[in-house]
Amino acid sequence: MAPNPPISLSFLFLTLPFVFFVQSTELRYDFYDESCPHLPMIIRNHIWDAVQNDTRIAASLLRLQFHDCIVDGCDASVLLDDTKDMKGEKNAPGNVKSLRGFEVIDAIKTDVETYCPETVSCVDILSLATREAVYQVEGPSWRVPLGRRDGLTANFKSVQEQLPSPKASLENNTAKFTSKGLDLKDLVVLSGAHTIGFARCVTFKLRLFNYKGSGQPDPDINAAMLSDLQSMCPNRNDGTNANLAPLDVATVDSFDNEYYTNLISGVGLLESDHGLMADSNTAQMVRQYSFDTNLFYDDFAESMFRLNTVRVLSGRDGQIRKNCHVVNVDDGY
Ligand code: HEM
Ligand SMILES: *[C@@H]1O[C@H](CO)[C@@H](O)[C@H](O)[C@H]1NC(C)=O
Ligand SMILES: *[C@@H]1O[C@H](CO)[C@@H](O)[C@H](O)[C@H]1NC(C)=O
Repeated sequence: MAPNPPISLSFLFLTLPFVFFVQSTELRYDFYDESCPHLPMIIRNHIWDAVQNDTRIAASLLRLQFHDCIVDGCDASVLLDDTKDMKGEKNAPGNVKSLRGFEVIDAIKTDVETYCPETVSCVDILSLATREAVYQVEGPSWRVPLGRRDGLTANFKSVQEQLPSPKASLENNTAKFTSKGLDLKDLVVLSGAHTIGFARCVTFKLRLFNYKGSGQPDPDINAAMLSDLQSMCPNRNDGTNANLAPLDVATVDSFDNEYYTNLISGVGLLESDHGLMADSNTAQMVRQYSFDTNLFYDDFAESMFRLNTVRVLSGRDGQIRKNCHVVNVDDGY
């Protein structure tokens, strides 16, 4: 006997949408376990080489991932090159001549395409590479939900609208985080990323010579640090704008909680870093993280997890780019 048609029909209608729903929204930690078992080893080896060659690369990758996720979500849009039809993100103010680490992602992607072609997204590679790099400079680790897909476009204007600025107020920068489903605590704990890496003079120079239009240095800057920074970053508009100062004057190469200790001693570098001490709420968090490394690590890991899930593409949305610099030309066929 054939089954009763109305029942099998309703079975079809009830289950099909459910199956697609699960496929299109589920991210998993073991997403590539079967489809690309070599992925963790490829990531680890490349990051090992890159960190041995240049410790700063950990900082640069961490920042690259932040700038990907905070602008229109984690979709590897920051990796896309400009085209004649699209002015992308990597050359927008805040990113241009500043972001680093693209070659490391490219090298990983090339290997991954050899072992498991058209399987692993650029956005997942960027997140796994960042996690590994931070771990290799003594930082914490965190879970990365995998199976996210790469965006089809990048937006120059979004960078200006969505990226926090070192010169903006805490309130304004917090608004950038909350509009992404992140909060003030995420801002404070993720700013702890400034325990590694460098900033160019141009990003903090106003603090040294003309703070808030006063014609004077920021009165809060530690005197010894002020004179060091003024000689490294003279008051001229020339090549010295690109000179680099460590974001964590104490231990620039290791991921620890010195960033917060620095803020308390008045040697935070960026205006936005120092600004965390001007608000009683954030200053309290800074103090907590300065005397509790484990709390900082745990909270940092949790916030990185949250950052990794900002407006992600999954299932049938987006694509797996073959080359992280360009959208696949044959997509949609
Ligand atoms: C209030 C928010 C933030 C502001 C205003 C800010 C601003 C900056 C600026 C101006 C620089 C120097 C860039 C240059 O010299 O061109 C920098 C570097 C850096 N930022 Fe942030 N940042 C913020 C939050 C974050 C977050 C959330 C992360 C990561 C989770 C992060 C990670 C880094 C790292 C690691 C560097 C050093 C990069 C390197 O040496 O290549 N920042 N940031
Ligand atoms: C090593 O680091 C330098 C400086 O960042 C970079 O220019 C170079 O490409 C790196 N070399 C390798 C093999 O990764
Ligand atoms: C904060 O944002 C407002 C609205 O965009 C802007 O007018 C103001 O200049 C900003 N202030 C600072 C210090 O960032």
